[in-house]
Amino acid sequence: MKTGLSIFIAAFIALGTSWCGFVLAPLLQLGSAQQTVILQTTDNWPLQRTGAATLGLQVYRAYGCAACHTEQVRQTGSAFEVTLTSLGNQKPADFIEFTKSLFVLPGLANYTNAIAASLNGWNGGLPKTLLTATDKDVATEMADRLKAVGVKSETAIIATGPDIARGWGSRLSVAADFLYDQPVQLGSLRAGPDLANIGVRAPDANWQLAHLYAPKSVTPNSTMPSFKFLFEVRKVGASPSPEALNLPKEFAAADGFEIVPKPAAKQLVAYLLSLKANVPLYEAPFTPATAAK
Ligand code: HEC
Repeated sequence: MKTGLSIFIAAFIALGTSWCGFVLAPLLQLGSAQQTVILQTTDNWPLQRTGAATLGLQVYRAYGCAACHTEQVRQTGSAFEVTLTSLGNQKPADFIEFTKSLFVLPGLANYTNAIAASLNGWNGGLPKTLLTATDKDVATEMADRLKAVGVKSETAIIATGPDIARGWGSRLSVAADFLYDQPVQLGSLRAGPDLANIGVRAPDANWQLAHLYAPKSVTPNSTMPSFKFLFEVRKVGASPSPEALNLPKEFAAADGFEIVPKPAAKQLVAYLLSLKANVPLYEAPFTPATAAK
């Protein structure tokens, strides 16, 4: 009986601590997560997906898209980018001479080569990115020096890292992006590109439908399996359906037939187009491209 009690206590502790680790801790961290506000706006983030897109999430889940695609952009750091917007009354050549005087400053000395390279062959076209620095102080010093001689510049925060360089997003994915998703389709294997921002990258629904029906019809060497069963091949009625896919000849249906998406395909595409992670948040700041005109 004595051993029975110790086994019970040992099992209780083993299961209890793992329950705390796997259930309680995440719940305390994220259980009460709410909409946040997009930086420098009063807009909320994220918004509930539309009905079709919410159903599309289940289609995405059911057909195992997450086996080959992730929905999480990673970021390794941030950089501050100083972009010239106006030279005031300076000529480009004078300005290039002026930048040479900056190179003796301790903060900017390390950026001598980068600045010189970015100005090499520059003909005065604006806006011009002058400096990309990982250090905020360097960017601030640069902006201050420029301001002192009447040159206008803008400093932008940009996210850096391989995923960002591939064009998969403007910033890392954060918990808030998935607030309304049940279950979250993070994925862990990248046989295909990350889809966290596909709604921004490929916003054309017809492209998405053609790609699902026959990936090779839009991406010649694609290795993605085709999801033909999400479409119906049917005889053209009195007039062709406005929804019929417009495919290259070798993928198109036989004469007199047309290929139309079933509801699941339309929902899936609504979901794909709703995948956007392109707004700056408190926990993932960056300067959106439109703001840095
Ligand atoms: C066996 C792996 C695999 C599966 C499963 C898969 N994909 Fe893909 N997917 C790929 C590959 C590889 C590419 C890159 C080639 C291309 O664009 O077709 C890709 C590309 C894409 C793209 C274009 C991405 C871009 O940046 O242009 C989208 C959108 C997409 N897949 C959606 C889906 C959806 C939705 C599903 C589930 C219905 C799915 N994929 C299932 C492998 C897969």
